[in-house]
Amino acid sequence: MKHLLKLLDLSTEEIISILDLADQLKYEKKNHIPHPLLAGKSLGMIFQKSSTRTRVSFETGMYQLGGQALFLSARDLQIGRGEPVQDTARVLSRYLDGIMIRTFAQQEVEDLAQYGSIPIINGLTDFAHPCQVLADLMTIREKYASLEGIKLAYIGDGNNMTNSLIVGGLKMGMQISVACPEGYGPDAGVLAFAEGDPNFTLTTDPMEAVQNADVVYTDTWASMGQESEKEARTKVFAGYQVNDTLMSAAREGAMVLHCLPAYRGQEITDEVFESHADEIFEEAENRLHAQKAVLVKLLG
Ligand code: CP
Ligand code: NVA
Repeated sequence: MKHLLKLLDLSTEEIISILDLADQLKYEKKNHIPHPLLAGKSLGMIFQKSSTRTRVSFETGMYQLGGQALFLSARDLQIGRGEPVQDTARVLSRYLDGIMIRTFAQQEVEDLAQYGSIPIINGLTDFAHPCQVLADLMTIREKYASLEGIKLAYIGDGNNMTNSLIVGGLKMGMQISVACPEGYGPDAGVLAFAEGDPNFTLTTDPMEAVQNADVVYTDTWASMGQESEKEARTKVFAGYQVNDTLMSAAREGAMVLHCLPAYRGQEITDEVFESHADEIFEEAENRLHAQKAVLVKLLG
């Protein structure tokens, strides 16, 4: 594994090996066992979009591993004024040991990897959010001990989260049921990947998707970059809220996960969110541990 651009590029064994290392690093952190595995290493973090979790977990993660992280807002970099990504990649490769990038087009991340000579980590694009899904898989495995056969129902917009959950979940032998409104489904390439897998179903009916689910997952109806569609989307997605009625069709004791930020009263009710807050914030914490594992694998 040279980069983390999207989960489609990773084998099941590579995902398991990241999750195992993440568990170990979490154990060490909880028990105050230092792990300076990236001493002297620098990670550059390019952000074209906002972030709370990704920025802070990567930054503290690098620090805990003995290295450092540089926050590089695209607003301040020359890339924001039109310096080509090919040049940025070749320059930064001479200073840094790795780059994490959050941007719009997946192609930009792929270009960085192609032109640079250091590991590139996708910290969210319109297409994928692999770091989040590694933390999600870690969180689900912590509860159910194994991922094989666990049913995850994703309700809402077929976005970067949906794409990565389908790929990561199916690679780990999970059952993935997705419910999205007509015209708001997952990426066509991801559907091609999932096609024919008996563990995958796609429907427009949230009740159908959530039947006997062990995990119910949702995300915002308007992702970063779709702010102008927010009002229209609120109407389209009205029947796709994760609420008590929907949860009653899931398995008793089912988990609820959300990558955050959450919009209560939209994709999830306050009641459902708060009654699953422990799981959701454990999931947020696991971003730190899962990404440290990725950093050790790629930069170590
Ligand atoms: N879930 C997630 O990636 O959060 P941020 O946008 O705050 O980084
Ligand atoms: N789908 C959301 C995820 C945020 C972490 C977005 O892209 O804005």
